[in-house]
Amino acid sequence: MSGKYKRMIMILFIAVVLVSLCWLAFNKGADTPADTAIYNGDILNTTKDGSNNEPNPGPETSGAPSSQFKTITFEDDTAGGFSGRAGTETLTITGDGNHTEAGSKALKVEGRLDTWHGPSLRVETYVDKGYEYKVTAWVKLISPESSQLQLSTQVGDGNSANYVTLASKTISTSDGWVQFEGSYRYNNVSSEYLTIYIESSSNATASYYIDDISFERTDSGSISIQKALTPIKDAYESNFLIGNAISAEDLEGVRLELLKLHHNVATTGNAMKPDALQPTKGNFTFTAADALVDKILDEGMMMHGHVLVWHQQSPSWMNKTAAGAPLSRDEALANMRDHIKTVIEHFEDKVISWDVVNEAMNDNPTNPTDWKASLRQSPWYEAIGDDYLEQAYLAAREVVDGHPDWNIKLYYNDYNEDNQNKAQAIYNMVKDINDRYAVKHPGKLLIDGIGMQGHYNINTNPDNVKLSLEKFISLGVEVSITELDIQAGNNFVLSEKQANAQGYLYAQLFKIFKEHAANITRVTFWGMDDNTSWRASSNPLLFDKDLQAKPAYDAVINPEAFIADHEPESTEAKQVTAAFAHPTIDGIVDDVWSGTPEIPMNQYQMAWKGATGVAKALWDNENLYVLFQVSDAQLDKTSTNAWEQDSVEIFLDQNNAKTSFYQDDDGQYRINFDNETSFNPTSIANGVISATKVSGTNYTVEVMIPLKYITPMNNTKLGFDVQINDAKAGTRQSVVAWNDLTGTGYLDTSVFGVLTLIGKATD
Ligand code: XIL
Repeated sequence: MSGKYKRMIMILFIAVVLVSLCWLAFNKGADTPADTAIYNGDILNTTKDGSNNEPNPGPETSGAPSSQFKTITFEDDTAGGFSGRAGTETLTITGDGNHTEAGSKALKVEGRLDTWHGPSLRVETYVDKGYEYKVTAWVKLISPESSQLQLSTQVGDGNSANYVTLASKTISTSDGWVQFEGSYRYNNVSSEYLTIYIESSSNATASYYIDDISFERTDSGSISIQKALTPIKDAYESNFLIGNAISAEDLEGVRLELLKLHHNVATTGNAMKPDALQPTKGNFTFTAADALVDKILDEGMMMHGHVLVWHQQSPSWMNKTAAGAPLSRDEALANMRDHIKTVIEHFEDKVISWDVVNEAMNDNPTNPTDWKASLRQSPWYEAIGDDYLEQAYLAAREVVDGHPDWNIKLYYNDYNEDNQNKAQAIYNMVKDINDRYAVKHPGKLLIDGIGMQGHYNINTNPDNVKLSLEKFISLGVEVSITELDIQAGNNFVLSEKQANAQGYLYAQLFKIFKEHAANITRVTFWGMDDNTSWRASSNPLLFDKDLQAKPAYDAVINPEAFIADHEPESTEAKQVTAAFAHPTIDGIVDDVWSGTPEIPMNQYQMAWKGATGVAKALWDNENLYVLFQVSDAQLDKTSTNAWEQDSVEIFLDQNNAKTSFYQDDDGQYRINFDNETSFNPTSIANGVISATKVSGTNYTVEVMIPLKYITPMNNTKLGFDVQINDAKAGTRQSVVAWNDLTGTGYLDTSVFGVLTLIGKATD
């Protein structure tokens, strides 16, 4: 550990002692319920992105015990306190329909223009701090035919607010009235601004009715944290800093206790993003961020800065004209530099590091050697060009070099960096930029560190995380894990088995992090508990909604023991054979297919069990042949995403190396019922021949795939899987495979089964 950290830890220790004393004094006599300070992908909760964050006019609050909430039925011809989040929505009381027989009115929500728009209700007057509330709303979709909708809560106002999804569903107009129900514990009423609202994370214009809104305190009582737990920061004291993402609700009461017990560094979840700090040109709004940063420092923790240059949560004036066209290079560069300089100078060395650029790289780029061609076509890229990133680091470097007494590391931060193609492109980019910088500035780095966000799920292969980590370390930069969470389960439900599988992956990751601790500065979780997470519905964190430790906590504290105790039953790859014969590829099932075994597909990867079918395989000296006979209830290829059309897929690892990423011999072949093909990577298309035949809503597919990387012989083993995608109304409703349950076969060949070639007569 460096002297710097030792000093910081000493300061921290003293601060923790002082704060604990204050805490004891504060907590004395604070035990009347209403008074006790006790305290929220792929569904995402949406912030008010780039919007004005002025509070809606709402009820006055007095700090008195909560008033009684009366179910809002709209029968009195008023909106019951609801108003549009944006102010531009059209909310009307209508007699078009009602959720119950008894009434006749509902609130109609129209004129939404963005995903976060919708009806919102202030609820702070009904909340006793520290208690959990059950929120219920009945919703009926008007348009489009099907849409995701969600019930959410906002805790706090303005830039330091937290936005949490309480319930999410994709519903159809034919479903009629649908109940959305979820709960939230308001441990902190964040300056008395709390709302509940109904929005969509994916549809900006959906319209709907709402009715019968209720908001009731549950009988789960108040909570306290487990103070005797080993602090995570202590367990990793000699390894790296332990961080978390914060919003205003984390800086009071039990949430602050939990934050301080386990962490020594924080990142603001939203408050230091471009839209929060400079919503309009030249108008810097630091108040909310300052309050968070100062509080964190006062509490003896450190701060990391997130984020200066990004394509999301950034106001469009920075890089686009009012009409939406890219600004000129010079104008955009000037805006970017000014933002970087002003923000870095404002926070001075209150931060230990900055994410200068976030998420610049495309997902799974096809040609990572060409990092420039792998860049995301973000508004910054479009206005400035492929050197925008380098320009951002040069601007940031100039500012920090102007303050030799500061020690601020400049980071590049991204997600899905366990994907080997993305990691390779990032590696090439950082290497190229740093190498060229070093020519003029010998021995110096322009990009000091790489942040691996770490938004994982229980199917993430830790081998890939390790490969990327080592790749980045080899660049001579520091690495931090910056936004760690692991999605497990869904719909706010986590089974014991899933909780252990989640713990197992946390343990595997922390074992890897520990082994590479010399090069890792910080590991930051993205949220403390499942209730407040940005991915609340998939339970991704170490503490549950009552702030109690989950198996994931134990896994992090002692990875080796957790791994030893929870070794999952090994799931053997399935085995099947292919006979030697050559079919005609015409969609008609020749007799030769009868001499080879059926490959049943029954590993359903989603909750819904849709289209089924069987496959078969044959081979000859050059090719592999695959037959699918699919039984489907409706044929649909309306989605623009090939994988969301009725289609079949073949996963092939010709040398059966079972690598956790794709090598040259690996490929994914997709054919829809209309014989339209798509390939991953695209280069494998060459030589593939396919034919389909539709009969009613069933279809047959025949495919020939050249075996270019091996010489097929009797007993040759191929990594192999087959899959059916079932689409309905433009979305994929079911996926079934022969071997893989994880759905990661498109990037990880270790999840494939094994196909053995047999039956060739010896010559
Ligand atoms: C998330 C926040 O946690 C949410 O509250 C917000 O609605 C969206 O952004 N990568 C990042 C983070 O770099 O800034 C994102 O944070 C999560 C993904």
